[in-house]
Amino acid sequence: MNKILITSALPYVNNIPHLGNLIQVLSADVFARYCRLQGYETLYICGTDEYGTATETRAKEEGITAKELCDKYYIIHSDIYKWFNISFDRFGRTSTKHQTDITQDIFLKCDKNGYINKKTIKQLFCEKCDMFLADRFVRGTCPHCGYEDTKGDQCEDCGKLLETTELIDPKCSICGATPVIRETDHLYINLPAILPKLEEWIKETSVKGFWARNAVKMTEAWIRDGLKERCITRDLKWGIPVPKDGYRNKVFYVWFDAPIGYISITANHTKDWEKWWKNPEEVKLFQFIGKDNIPFHTVIFPSSLIGSGDNWTKLYHMSSTEYLNYEDGKFSKSKGIGVFGNDAKDTGIPADVWRFYIYYNRPEKSDTQFSWEDFQLMVNGELIGNLSNLVNRTLTFISKYFDGKLPEGEITEAFKIETEKLKRKIGDSLAKVELRDAFRMIFQLSSLGNKHFQDSEPWKYVKENREKIFGLMNDLAYLIRDLAILIKPYMPETSEKISALIGIKELKWDELWNYSGISKIERPSLLFKKLEEKEINSFRKRFSGRQEERKTISEKFTSQIDLRVAKIMSVERHPKADKLYIEKIDLGTEKKQIVSGLVPYYTEDELIGRNIILAYNLKSAKLRGILSQGMLLAAENDDTVEVVFVEHANPGDRVVIEGNEDKEHVEKKEITIDEFFNIPIKVKNHVLVVENKPLVARGKQVVSWQVKDGVVG
Ligand code: 2FM
Ligand code: ZN
Repeated sequence: MNKILITSALPYVNNIPHLGNLIQVLSADVFARYCRLQGYETLYICGTDEYGTATETRAKEEGITAKELCDKYYIIHSDIYKWFNISFDRFGRTSTKHQTDITQDIFLKCDKNGYINKKTIKQLFCEKCDMFLADRFVRGTCPHCGYEDTKGDQCEDCGKLLETTELIDPKCSICGATPVIRETDHLYINLPAILPKLEEWIKETSVKGFWARNAVKMTEAWIRDGLKERCITRDLKWGIPVPKDGYRNKVFYVWFDAPIGYISITANHTKDWEKWWKNPEEVKLFQFIGKDNIPFHTVIFPSSLIGSGDNWTKLYHMSSTEYLNYEDGKFSKSKGIGVFGNDAKDTGIPADVWRFYIYYNRPEKSDTQFSWEDFQLMVNGELIGNLSNLVNRTLTFISKYFDGKLPEGEITEAFKIETEKLKRKIGDSLAKVELRDAFRMIFQLSSLGNKHFQDSEPWKYVKENREKIFGLMNDLAYLIRDLAILIKPYMPETSEKISALIGIKELKWDELWNYSGISKIERPSLLFKKLEEKEINSFRKRFSGRQEERKTISEKFTSQIDLRVAKIMSVERHPKADKLYIEKIDLGTEKKQIVSGLVPYYTEDELIGRNIILAYNLKSAKLRGILSQGMLLAAENDDTVEVVFVEHANPGDRVVIEGNEDKEHVEKKEITIDEFFNIPIKVKNHVLVVENKPLVARGKQVVSWQVKDGVVG
């Protein structure tokens, strides 16, 4: 019998996954559970995709090392998937020794087989960030479709893969600066040379493995547009070293090694990993991804495997979903829009209810939308009004009128024929990985049960002619058992609850055609709680806007505002404005100039030589023609303006919320003055506070002597 190897796209480690990302792991989970239920030897592999620039940058932002960041987010990811009951055989990670060994091995073999070329190329380099800007760290206008704000590796609108240097009007997405072009040496995989073998494989497999339509279309388009050589190395530190002279200080491009993660995670799981990955005769590989990952899985990854010359297990079935949108727009990790894995858990709504809605709404053939309104409607209508209702009314009926014993009676033939037809269709759809179609048919099956109950009016026969409904009770009880079997891959906890109520220890797929095994029935309690209007409205509100906006003010302060101590070196009057001074300030390692409206309050001498607090990451602006690189903090109330002096601290010291001293080295993006004032700093009883938490510099609270209560601006 075939072995079934299942993978879901390895999520980037540097973010918390949202519902849109969860579709892949959830889809693969249904299929894995279905395969196990069929008795197939099944292995479901996933893990975090850890290397690359995104991780490096995020680590910088959080003020920790890349490794520490991965460790932290690996746990966050694992916890979320555990909460959703994902039945991975292994949830691993890509930053392991096996990953390095297998990736280098594949590369060296491709190189030996003549599929690797060298090139000196021009690449965008951000002088401000002092690094080459790979892929996603450049944004600009797509040269193909003109979409204005696309990332650098793939257009988010037309889907074409891009080289960052092709972008029109590129910008560094870390700091916003315009990057320059520099030369660097890189290695390329020669896809055109592999193409003949690849094409033959695609032709055969896409049909045999009944690839999703979008995968077939996109792959065809790729090949039709002509394959180009693809650069597989990067000037980075956090990645797998390239084992070749002249390139040893570079690492592999994250998309070269990421899919190899499926293999290495298996290798970390079992020493017999080659029985899965070098065994194409016996193993069928089912891969679950989102449509944006298609070419990497149908073209690039198979090409590296083919190029290596080894006999790898390659993709069999490609299950690539369309997008799940959020309310009116897109889920976005980078923008923090939507419901995230941890949010789902925080709602108190059980995992099976989330699973229900995601499968019911799986973007299988077209984009679908998550909306709170629809969520409520479907949960209350289908999950509760249909399935749960059938279970509840039937089992309550049998407990009440038959003392919990299923009476002996003949199954109704017509009902049997009708339901068996549908069960067969559900089975066929599941085997074809049409998970949403199959799921919806399961609810049709449940509807048939409700209709049968209703039409047969069993309540009329509870006193006399009871034998008239013995058969009906069997029809319904076994239908409920069948539903428990069929929903088992989708809603495992609910399936278990139902099977416990009908006294069945282990649900087996083959039992679908068998009408025995139930004798005792327990009185059910409700399987689910209705979603109330009020509750839904409050979730809609709570999850509206960006994740960032849902942060508390002090969390925002810590992630967004950079305050530093600076010494005023000189003060001059602004030539064109009566109230403005121009101050030259020293931050220890750098000097800046600011403009401030202090003429009415301070003389030059009262300012020179003093230590002030600078809003360091404020966007520079010209004030009446003179450049101001930031702003000094002053406390004010109705009658006083007072510069906040910090004589106890040294130039360059950070000013942070008390208790957050470990975040002193966190790098923060430039912010506008509006963003700055969105996060209020106040004075309470002479102390500067953010949400009642004192600000400190060099371990001491920052105070204003004259202003007792007021605001800081
Ligand atoms: O798009 C993503 O989230 C990628 N990390 C998917 C990688 S899939 C596989 F190749 F590892
Ligand atoms: Zn930059």
